[in-house]
Amino acid sequence: MTMKRIGILTSGGDAPGMNAAIRSALRTGIHLGMEVYGISRGYEGLIDGDIQKLEWVSGGDILHRGGTILKTARSSRFMEKKWQEHAVGILRAYGIEGLVVIGGEGSMKGALELSKLGVDVAVVPGTIDNDMGYTDMTIGFDTAVNTTLNLIGNIRDTSSSHERTTIIEVMGRHCGDLALYAGLGGGADVIMVPEVPQDINEVCRRVLRGQSSGKVHSIIVKAEGVDIDSRQLAEILEEMTGREARIVVPGYIQRGGSPTEADRRLASLTGAKAADVLYNDSGSRAVGTLQGEIVALDLEKAVGMKREFRMDMYNLANVLS
Ligand code: F6P
Repeated sequence: MTMKRIGILTSGGDAPGMNAAIRSALRTGIHLGMEVYGISRGYEGLIDGDIQKLEWVSGGDILHRGGTILKTARSSRFMEKKWQEHAVGILRAYGIEGLVVIGGEGSMKGALELSKLGVDVAVVPGTIDNDMGYTDMTIGFDTAVNTTLNLIGNIRDTSSSHERTTIIEVMGRHCGDLALYAGLGGGADVIMVPEVPQDINEVCRRVLRGQSSGKVHSIIVKAEGVDIDSRQLAEILEEMTGREARIVVPGYIQRGGSPTEADRRLASLTGAKAADVLYNDSGSRAVGTLQGEIVALDLEKAVGMKREFRMDMYNLANVLS
C-alpha cells in the first residue's frame, strides 16, 4: 500500500534550509501522486488544526530563503499525552496518513511519541545546533557556521586595531559544534564548549601565551552553554592579561540568512527521501546522512543514537591557535 496524503511541519528553533526541505518534500510528494498539507507553527499548529493544502507553486521562491514559511514553535502542550492524542485525532480528521517533521532533537522526540500512537513520521534534521546523533550534519548548521565565520572576520579587524581580547558567545546550549567549527575555521585562540570542562586559569594562560609570542589581540569563541559567565570571564581576563576585553553575542543573527549550497543540497536530498519513505509506507524513519550517504533509519533507533563530539578537531584547534 502507498500513502495518499501527508503533512509537513517545522518545529523548534528555525534553521536556514528548512524552506528548501519543505519545497523538496512537497514537490516530491506531489510528484509521487500524493496530496501534501502544510501544518503551521509546528506541533502547536497541529494541536490547533492550523492546516492547509499545499500546491506545487507553494514551494516557489522559497529555496533561497532563511526561516520557515510554515512558521515554527516550541510546544509545551505537545509534551503531554492528552495533546499528542488530540494531535493524532486532528491528523485522522484531515485524512493525513504520514507526517514530515523538520526539526531538531526535541522535535524528533515528539515525532517518536506520535509514531507510538500509530502515525508514520519521517524526521528531517533541521537545526543550527548540529546536535543530532544519527546524522553527520543537520540542515542550517553549515550556514550558521559560515555566518559566524564572517562575524569573526569582522571582529578580527577591530579587535586587532584596539589590541583587545574579544569573547564571541555563539549559540549552542548543549552542543559546542557551532563554536568548534567556527572557531577552527576562524582561527580562534581559545574555543570553549560545553562538552569539555573549562578552566578560567587555562583560558588566561593561553591568551597570555599568545601575547608573549607576539599576538596583538585574541579571539575567544565560547558556546552559550558553557557554565562560565562571559562578563566574569572578561573581567578576569582584563585583570590577568592587562588587555581590554569585549564581549560579542551575535544571538539570532546566527539563525537567519540565505542557506548555503551545502544546506540547500542536504535539505533537498533529505526532504525528498522523507516524502519517499512515507509514500512507500516504510514505518517511522529519521532521514539524514552517514558518511555522505542518505539514510532513513528506524526512528526509535535514531533517537537513541548518541552524538560524538569531535575531540580530534578540538585538539587540533588548540594546536593551531
Ligand atoms: O535552534 C537552537 C538554538 O539556536 C540554541 O542554540 C539556542 O539556545 C536556542 O535555539 C534559542 O532559541 P529560542 O530562544 O528561539 O528558544
